Amino acid sequence: MNVIMAESAGFCFGVKKAMDMVEEQIEQKGDLPIYTYGPIIHNAEVVRDLESRGVITIKDDEELKKVPKGIMIIRSHGVPKRVNDTLLDMGFKIVDATCPFVKRIHNEVSRQSAQGKKIIIVGNATHPEVEGIIGWCNSKPYVIESVDEIENIPFRQDESYCLVSQTTFNHRKFKDIVEKIAQIGYDVTVVDTICNATDERQRESREVAKRVDTMIVIGDAHSSNSKKLFEICKEECEDTHFIQTLNDLKLELPKSVRLVGITAGASTPNNIIEEVQNYVRVDF
Ligand code: F3S
Repeated sequence: MNVIMAESAGFCFGVKKAMDMVEEQIEQKGDLPIYTYGPIIHNAEVVRDLESRGVITIKDDEELKKVPKGIMIIRSHGVPKRVNDTLLDMGFKIVDATCPFVKRIHNEVSRQSAQGKKIIIVGNATHPEVEGIIGWCNSKPYVIESVDEIENIPFRQDESYCLVSQTTFNHRKFKDIVEKIAQIGYDVTVVDTICNATDERQRESREVAKRVDTMIVIGDAHSSNSKKLFEICKEECEDTHFIQTLNDLKLELPKSVRLVGITAGASTPNNIIEEVQNYVRVDF
């Protein structure tokens, strides 16, 4: 069977970096227990594997109070400054795996709000990345998700504003919001902080799905970016399958199928992708 693999399948740069930092800590095998502040990625297989190697996922603040002090790995989404400070005060050693693209937003909002600018964040207020960004602003920021929500911001002529975005926000929607704000004519500095990794993966997966007879999307059932990939591929290729691991793959490929495409969400580890790729290549 011929297989086309989407090159951008699997971990993005930030997630890969965070996973490498966890591996580094495991390899160093120090005396201190290793924790991650929330699941390191949205992939149950990966979290289980790390737990079997001694990495403990802290689920909430109650648990945090009870565990012995150790190394706390901050995941790629980042955390609010107060969480960072609390962890240090409690005596944890922090290993910061915040994606550098997210860290750049923290630095930007921290600097701009310290200069007195009001911060506008384009994104979902309940997403952990946005909660983290909010926590680096020196004054309460505005969070909006649509053009309609612009009217919730009480703009003033005597204020300056700085607008940033959640890294995974939709480019087109961001542009619409920025254009609308420009029309109302206040002093707004726009910093485009959208990361292209998600767009790139979606675009490439669509291209692959267009060319193949059967498409396989690998991702965790709870991962929204994987589900989105499935929808996109299904639009282009009727015979699209969504699986978490090779065990879920129940393909009965008719003889007419010559070309299979594979893509994977941002939280799918390479070993699972390779397993599926080898299986399809050899067994059909
Ligand atoms: Fe970073 Fe972009 Fe991934 S912001 S965590 S590289 S999606």
